[in-house]
Amino acid sequence: MRFYENPEKTSENRCTSRACYIPGGVSERILLNGQWNFSYFARDIDVPERIEAWDTVSVPGCWQLQGYENPNYSNINYPYPVDPPCVPDDNPCGVYRREFALENKWGRVYFVFEGVSSCARLSINGRYVGFTQGSHLFAEFDITDYVNQGVNTVEVLVHKWCCGSYLEDQDFFRYNGIFRDVYLLQRPEGHITDVDMIPTDSEICVKIQGKASVRVKDGEALLSEAVMQERFTFVPKDPVLWNAEKPHLYTVELERAGEIITLKAGLRKIEIADNYALLINGQSVKLHGVNHHDTDPNRGWCQDEAALRRDLELMKKLNMNCVRTSHYPPAPRFLEMCDEIGLYVVCETDIETHGFLRRLPNVPYYYDVESNAWPCTKAEWKREFVDRMKRMVENFKNHPSIIMWSTGNESGHGCNHIEMIRWTKNRDCTRLVHAEDASRKGQNHNADVYSMMYSSLKDVEGYALCDDINMPVFLCEYSHAMGNGPGDVWDYNELFDKYPKLIGGCIWEWADHVVNVDGVQRYGGDFAGELTHDGNFCCDGLVFSDRSFKAGSLEAKAAYQPIRTTYENGVLTVYNRLNFTDLEEFRLHYAIEADGKVVQSEELWVHAKPHSYARIEIPVEDLYCCFGAYLHVRLLRDGEEAAHTQHALPANFPKIKAEPLLALEEDGHNIYARGETFQYVFSKHYGTFISLMVHGREQLAERTVLTAHRAPTDNDRDIRFRWMQLDEWRGENLDKSFVKIYDCRLEADEIVVQGALSGISRAPLLRFIQRVRIDMTGKIGVSLEGDIREDAIWLPRLGYEFTLPGETKEFAYYGNGPVESYRDLCHAGRVGLHKSHADREYVHYVRPQEHGNHTAAKWLRIGDLEFAAEDMEICVSRYSTAALTKAEHTDELFADGKTHLRIDYKVSGIGSNSCGPELEPRYRLSEKKILFQFSIYPTEKY
Ligand code: GAL
Ligand code: MG
Repeated sequence: MRFYENPEKTSENRCTSRACYIPGGVSERILLNGQWNFSYFARDIDVPERIEAWDTVSVPGCWQLQGYENPNYSNINYPYPVDPPCVPDDNPCGVYRREFALENKWGRVYFVFEGVSSCARLSINGRYVGFTQGSHLFAEFDITDYVNQGVNTVEVLVHKWCCGSYLEDQDFFRYNGIFRDVYLLQRPEGHITDVDMIPTDSEICVKIQGKASVRVKDGEALLSEAVMQERFTFVPKDPVLWNAEKPHLYTVELERAGEIITLKAGLRKIEIADNYALLINGQSVKLHGVNHHDTDPNRGWCQDEAALRRDLELMKKLNMNCVRTSHYPPAPRFLEMCDEIGLYVVCETDIETHGFLRRLPNVPYYYDVESNAWPCTKAEWKREFVDRMKRMVENFKNHPSIIMWSTGNESGHGCNHIEMIRWTKNRDCTRLVHAEDASRKGQNHNADVYSMMYSSLKDVEGYALCDDINMPVFLCEYSHAMGNGPGDVWDYNELFDKYPKLIGGCIWEWADHVVNVDGVQRYGGDFAGELTHDGNFCCDGLVFSDRSFKAGSLEAKAAYQPIRTTYENGVLTVYNRLNFTDLEEFRLHYAIEADGKVVQSEELWVHAKPHSYARIEIPVEDLYCCFGAYLHVRLLRDGEEAAHTQHALPANFPKIKAEPLLALEEDGHNIYARGETFQYVFSKHYGTFISLMVHGREQLAERTVLTAHRAPTDNDRDIRFRWMQLDEWRGENLDKSFVKIYDCRLEADEIVVQGALSGISRAPLLRFIQRVRIDMTGKIGVSLEGDIREDAIWLPRLGYEFTLPGETKEFAYYGNGPVESYRDLCHAGRVGLHKSHADREYVHYVRPQEHGNHTAAKWLRIGDLEFAAEDMEICVSRYSTAALTKAEHTDELFADGKTHLRIDYKVSGIGSNSCGPELEPRYRLSEKKILFQFSIYPTEKY
């Protein structure tokens, strides 16, 4: 057995865990980030006594992104046999070495790793100091007796795997190296060893060993100053409490031997109400959360302070109030920023053993902890389980932002978890404890929340109504944000608001995990040497890897936004969903728009205390419009939009006078329509237009075609087997479809077409009658009436595809935009008049897929054509559905120089079935009787 294969001894000489802080005053931090010498060995047994060949790498960094090994993405599977505690005999390792100068040796000197994967052996000046496991956990060594005044050499031998790797089977790229800050601390002899300042809501209680001077400040104002011994309690007169909306922090300074430790203190209280609501400072708070992994497309697990701050600030912009540190503790600065910026944190320790599910072939997905194979049930792992919890709690106990401790993720639930919970509750009774997997088996033991992931809406409502669930229900993961999506976040939040017991949840997950290679985002399976991988399942971020937003990000922002509104009888009612903020801190702006043009607007202050209503009378005069009228409500803070809602208004629509029909001509093949500005050719053979000339210009590059396919989204990953031809049996084969025309004739200047749409090898899916009428002005009325085969699966979409000549078409539309929208993913857009461009509609999902749809459309103008319908969905793209379906990466996607326009009867919703439940039935195109009417007409010359 190698020294790193013993779960009962996972460290040597590591200091006892303490609260994380960087001491000041006479103390100093010497950051060792930067260039280090590096030598890589494919087998750790090959590391020689004396290393001759050195390269240099950046620290922090992941060696797989610095020229050593390739990245490997694995979700559940361990990237080696499941034979704990042993890891492969060929265990790669990296040796890091550099020099550092201690100008003046005094006091005590410590060496700190904030993150190193998976196991590090530390030596100073050629003498072994100790070793540590636990990649994402703070590790500190006292190196006072190893360092000299002047130049010293530090060497860190990092093994790729160790027994601890069995506890780090998170769903991510498997990286190695010193990936977080590494530094020395030089502190006076006899310094404070730890500060315990676990937050309460009424006093700041500081516990240390020994004596110190203590100062409490509020901003610059000194509130209290004393010399303390062991314990000091400060009770502010008018305490200003901390919460995520108003993260008020006091400053506590401790001084001993010239060292000053500066900490932030927040006052707040966490409770569970009788109805199982989560109370923060007595207010029932819903967690509007997201799961955060440390991920960067160029640097892997390395996110520096600026990058982390950006993530947290973007979360706030998206109206989030909660983050789960999935599935390991974050860097200490992350939590300091959560305190400061205001986010509730579910702080999770570095444990996931998901791959035990797959240790045997040919078994169902099942946490068979009763097999006694899982580490959580084994005595030899107990210490390490509890230790990983202890280290986290001791490091981060003072952060007001942390409201829940989490024992980890997807590791089954066994006696070792129970011991972790017991230890935690003993140590800190002020916070809740979350144990993912405990609820799954109905073994919630002492955890404080009923935790589930990816439950359907129906199941979530079931938990709310189930009397046997006597605790708050928390969705530690929901709304899987992979690719185009998620489409269900709004509905979940409606449920959270409805039941006190549902305290909210965290969307999976914050950002796509990818590796940028020459400007293309790569994922699992793209790298040589990946023995097991999970493809693009790592591309499931609510924001892209560069942190730009997609429609799904804005959908989450809308679901989480501070208000909900209704409009009835001339009164707008605004509900304040916030817990600690009056709406008077925002400006409320409303606008009444007819056909997208503002006819009335106002910006005002409104007052509404948390969880109460403001009522604003907005009488509306008679409105006249062609497309529609809406009341748009916006909530603004510092000029930025925090919320937007809209309500359709009744309006008067002009009566469209029916023009006389045009006399059509026909020959054996075609039907012809000719007018002053237009000339159309309708093929009797294909039952469709093959030419539309307007103002002397051809509008069609190809004949128009009726289709039902869409390039599968990541959320279509299961249902696509029913839609496409992916195997012999299951699909409707919509991606290889045929339109058959049985009959096409002119009946009193109306074209009547009888036909069917079928997938290859399948019986007809849709049998239809299509009627086309062309009037004297060139207006074409299309009516499609049909029946879908009773036993057919619900469809991705149904409508007409027009291929237009030329590639970069501008267009205008009245509908839900400017971001793409789908039946369920539609709360971020506004229904109105929008201008766009085929290029601008493209959304660069990591794996190309369906995108760019707009719901609630009534009108579209493109080229010399206009399209209108009571209700349709539209999509304009440079890419054909076939091209989008085929490409696996953005560099495999090719435009064909044409513009692809869809005029659709309906497009099914998006959901989050890439990991979440199946798409809600109400968002599916599942009806069997179809009636779709729209018109096409030549534009006025422009
Ligand atoms: C969950 C898991 C996450 C992630 C997600 C899928 O089961 O906890 O870590 O794998 O599924 O993206
Ligand atoms: Mg997992």
